Amino acid sequence: MGSENFNAVSLIRKKRDRQTLTDQEIAFLVDRYTNGKLSDYQMSAFLMAAFLNGLNEQEAAALTHSMLHSGKVLDLSDIPGKKVDKHSTGGVGDKLSLILAPIVASYGVPVPMISGRGLGHTGGTLDKLESIPGFTVDITLDRYRSILKAHHMVMAGQTSDIAPADKKLYALRDVTATVESIPLIAGSIMSKKLAEGIDALVLDVKFGSGAFMNTQEDALKLAETLVAIGEKFEKETIAYLTNMEQPLGYKIGNWLEVEESMEALQGNGPDDVMEVTHRLAGTMIYLGDKADSMEEGIEKSKEAVDNGQAFERWLKLTEAQDGETECLQDFDKYDYARHQIDVKASSDGYINSMDAYKIGMASLELGAGRKTKEDGVDHAAGIILKKKTRDAVKKGETIATCFTNKEHTITIAEQLFSEAVEIGSDKPMAGQMITHIVDKNGPRLL
Ligand code: URA
Repeated sequence: MGSENFNAVSLIRKKRDRQTLTDQEIAFLVDRYTNGKLSDYQMSAFLMAAFLNGLNEQEAAALTHSMLHSGKVLDLSDIPGKKVDKHSTGGVGDKLSLILAPIVASYGVPVPMISGRGLGHTGGTLDKLESIPGFTVDITLDRYRSILKAHHMVMAGQTSDIAPADKKLYALRDVTATVESIPLIAGSIMSKKLAEGIDALVLDVKFGSGAFMNTQEDALKLAETLVAIGEKFEKETIAYLTNMEQPLGYKIGNWLEVEESMEALQGNGPDDVMEVTHRLAGTMIYLGDKADSMEEGIEKSKEAVDNGQAFERWLKLTEAQDGETECLQDFDKYDYARHQIDVKASSDGYINSMDAYKIGMASLELGAGRKTKEDGVDHAAGIILKKKTRDAVKKGETIATCFTNKEHTITIAEQLFSEAVEIGSDKPMAGQMITHIVDKNGPRLL
């Protein structure tokens, strides 16, 4: 798409007045902004107009196209097999990439995974990987290809030449209150994923207190937009809506989540983690042509955990990316946080809710996350839940243990955690973990 010469003010006015922009007009704005020829204030005005008045499906696809082609688009066609990746819209305790990538790769489906860091209350795969001593996510394109060829998976960070427009636009959205827009989120996610050179994509779109989309209705709209864009770019795309009202699993924080992932790969994963893992991994195995149906894919996913092939694949991948494997097999070899403090139940009853957002913020305070992009993270910091929603508790019983190397963070983290937990006299109903599937035929209840 060429960048014809338009007038930026006219384009901003057009979106302000709820008109539809052409593909060329959107390309003009994105190209100019990426090349530093459009000011932050004009792009901010456009983003706010798009946030308030929306972008239709054609505009969202044009935005994705321009952002995708703002940098390199990897060509992995020389690597045999259908390349399949998964992306999550982000949550608390969401360590699924570490579990499902080796499951899927162990069947020979190439998984080229480019991931991000955590920001705010949500964790990021790169920070989790870097909590493994020695593990490097900063690899050249040649090394990326050769690891993918040898192990059918690779886990790396986004380089500056992959979708640079997204990097700039995301930073601007962050400071102009324009992040929570369905078409803008969809363009941001899909431009990065399509740049990886994938053939198919599975999306985990989360709803609830710990997700970007708090309501199921908004999550469904986001899932439909993501799938429509994927299909427009001729990539098979299947999305699931999954519950993020409470944290996923029991362990939150970078190393603690690696630990829970290793337990999961050895057959000891929590039920909620394994339910979503097998569903997503099974779909990836099916899309990678290694199963005739999603149900068969799910059975294969379970088998790969039961027979140890997925854990074996993870250890090999860790060695290939310079990580130490001893601590993955014997957690006592890891340097735990110096301070470990129990949080106790304030009354008898049942846990009625555990607000994932507040628990994510408590974990961030302990050192597991960043307050600004420049902050470092404490890999050993985080929270281990001893109880989850619907569990019975007695007053004074431990409901969680906080881990930190920064003693002064404990009071605020404990307070946030206590605010996150509601105890009532009745046992609440069980919520469904996965509620919908969305594919090219539209959404369906599961
Ligand atoms: N994740 C992204 O990559 N981009 C967004 O805009 C939101 C979540």
